[in-house]
Amino acid sequence: MFKQLAFAAVISFALPVTSAFAAGGAAHIEDFDFSFEGPLGTFDENQLQRGLQIYTEGCSGCHGLRYVPIRTLADAGGPHLPADQVRAYAEQNFEIFDADLDDYRVAKETDNFPANDSAGAPDLSLMAKARAGFHGPLGTGINQLVKGMGGAEYIASLLTGYTGEEKEEAGVVLYENTAFPGGWISMPPPLYDDMVEFVDGHAADTHHLAEDISAFLMWTAEPKMMARQQTGLTAVIFLSLLTVLLYLTNKRIWAPIKRAAKSS
Ligand code: HEC
Repeated sequence: MFKQLAFAAVISFALPVTSAFAAGGAAHIEDFDFSFEGPLGTFDENQLQRGLQIYTEGCSGCHGLRYVPIRTLADAGGPHLPADQVRAYAEQNFEIFDADLDDYRVAKETDNFPANDSAGAPDLSLMAKARAGFHGPLGTGINQLVKGMGGAEYIASLLTGYTGEEKEEAGVVLYENTAFPGGWISMPPPLYDDMVEFVDGHAADTHHLAEDISAFLMWTAEPKMMARQQTGLTAVIFLSLLTVLLYLTNKRIWAPIKRAAKSS
C-alpha cells in the first residue's frame, strides 16, 4: 500500500516536469563527445586552434567575443599559440576603436576581441555557459558530471540542426532549426562543407566544423575549466585520504576504552 502511494506521488511529481519540457518546443540537442567532458577531460589544443580559425573566418563577421582577451590564445590548456603568432593574429584580423586616438587602429594582443553588433547577433564569449544543456532529473546538474555542461552540445546541435526550410516573417527571413527553441532562427546557416582549409588537413565537413567551433566557444566561456577540474580532483583525493586517516585515528584513540569496557 505504502509503496503504491509513494509510486503515485513520484509519478504525479514527475509528470508536470516532463510536460513542461515538452511544451518548451521540440528542441533537439544531440550528445556530441568532447575531449573536455568528465572529471579528467582536457581541451584539445589543435581543436581549439581549428575553432579559432572557424570563428575568425566564419563567425566574426557577425558575432563579437568582447570578453575574451586576445593574449589568452597563448595560454597552456587553451589554444596555446606561440606569442608571435598571437601578435600577428591580432594585427591581421581586427581593428579596434581606440578612445585615446579617437580613431581605429590595428588590434594588439593586449586588446580583447572586438564586440560586433552590426548584424544584431549576440556576443559569443559566454554563450556556451549561457546555453548549458544537460541538467539531469529536476535540474540537479547530475548529468553534467559525465556528459559535460551541454552548452557546447547545444551550439554544435544548433549549427548542424538546419533543415533547409526557410520562411519570411515581417520582412525577416527565418531558417528552420531543430535545436533552436521555437524551431526558427534568424541566423542563416553559417557552416558548409570545406568552407575553411586547415593547415593540418583536418576534415572540414559541417559536422567536424560544428564540433571544433563549439569546443572553442566552450573554452572562451570557461578558459580555466582544466585548472578547476584539477583542483577539484586534488581536493577529492585529499579528502578521501583524510577520511581514512581520521577513521584509523578514531579507532586508535578509542581502542583502550573499548578494550577496558569488554574486559569489565
Ligand atoms: C550573417 C551573420 C551571422 C553569422 C556569419 C553567424 N551568425 Fe550566429 N547569429 C546571427 C544572428 C542574427 C543570431 C540571432 C538569431 C536569433 O535569435 O534568431 C545568431 C545567433 C547565434 C547563436 C545563439 C543562438 C541562441 O540560442 O540564441 C549562436 C550560438 C550562434 N549564432 C553561433 C554562430 C557561430 C558559431 C557562427 C560561425 C560558425 C555564427 N553564429 C555565424 C548571425 C550570424
